[in-house]
Amino acid sequence: PPPGPIAAPVMGWNSWNRFGCNIDENLIRATADAIVSTGLRESGYTYVNIDDCWMASTRDAQGRLQPHPTRFPGGIKALADYVHARGLKLGIYSSAGTLTCAGFPASLDHEVVDAQTWASWGIDLLKYDNCNNQGRPARDRYRAMGDALKATGRHIVYSICNWGLDDPWLFGPETGGSYWRTTGDISDNWGSVTSLLDQQRGLEPFARKGFYNDPDMLEVGNGGLTQTENIAHFSLWALLSSPLLLGNDLRSVSASTLSVLRNADVLAVNQDWGGSQGRLVADAGDAEVWAKPMSDGSTAVVLFNRGATTATVATTAAALGLGGSSAYALRDLWTGATATSAGAVSASVPSHGVVMYRVTRSGSLSAAPVAGTHQVSDLS
Ligand code: GLA
Repeated sequence: PPPGPIAAPVMGWNSWNRFGCNIDENLIRATADAIVSTGLRESGYTYVNIDDCWMASTRDAQGRLQPHPTRFPGGIKALADYVHARGLKLGIYSSAGTLTCAGFPASLDHEVVDAQTWASWGIDLLKYDNCNNQGRPARDRYRAMGDALKATGRHIVYSICNWGLDDPWLFGPETGGSYWRTTGDISDNWGSVTSLLDQQRGLEPFARKGFYNDPDMLEVGNGGLTQTENIAHFSLWALLSSPLLLGNDLRSVSASTLSVLRNADVLAVNQDWGGSQGRLVADAGDAEVWAKPMSDGSTAVVLFNRGATTATVATTAAALGLGGSSAYALRDLWTGATATSAGAVSASVPSHGVVMYRVTRSGSLSAAPVAGTHQVSDLS
């Protein structure tokens, strides 16, 4: 099949956030091994994506990109075989410019030969950046690569990375892209996470089943966020139907970080398409309510406290579009606790933290509250 719609947001790992240009084939192999041994593959993380700096500083005599001689002496094909043998997929990186952002040869006007090279190596995903683009129209540059990927006959997921410039959500799908970066680069601090989150507002209509906004890769486990902030970052990116690309060192991942990355209830919210990505539905100062409809008729909710002290964040089933039932079942996706509610959806939320629920109609379609139900705030 050609590049284009994908069944659900991509899940995997990318080398850039943690390693930058400090990558080699040993890191990629060890990361693939770690994805298997930690259970991350079982959780659905299947893409191992090599970012910038994998290539040599010159093309070969036939004009093909070649791997960096000391970082990837065994070649990319051998690495793809290694990754595929473990049930994983291999992603690679280039730029729709003359050079990558780090200054290596890139693919503008070499789209056909580069796509064919990657297909011959067994590549499964391309992240295509925007550096050194010579001022040429983005739509043309991204379409040329989309067409070249399609012409290979290999299914290569096409990730458009032009940092929200030129409104990539307008041309992403028509050029073969499956998701597109909505912003500049994330960095490993809370201010970056909240700034990127704010920049997603208004883009919800451009995501649809098969095509997703990309608020950038995850910083969970890289050390710049507290565990509370890691959980908030992960919950919100999941709710946004973002690609979930891990950006940390999986060779030494801690049990507490794994418990965030492997939360099956939160991953299910990310992977399910109920008609919209998550969006901000209520905003009372530092207390925000974000929600995403699920395909089974329930709603996933993130109660988010941006403030400096613990606060109550509250909404109602009716405000979430789930009115008309006498009772609701609430499941706390981080503690597993369940409760019933007559309609209140509320919790005490730590500073920079979230409480994430899945809310389901469980009563009769009557307005009368059921005696004996307790409020979800009793959970905390
Ligand atoms: C840009 C991208 C990053 C990363 C680097 C590599 O900044 O937005 O995600 O790929 O290039 O140089």
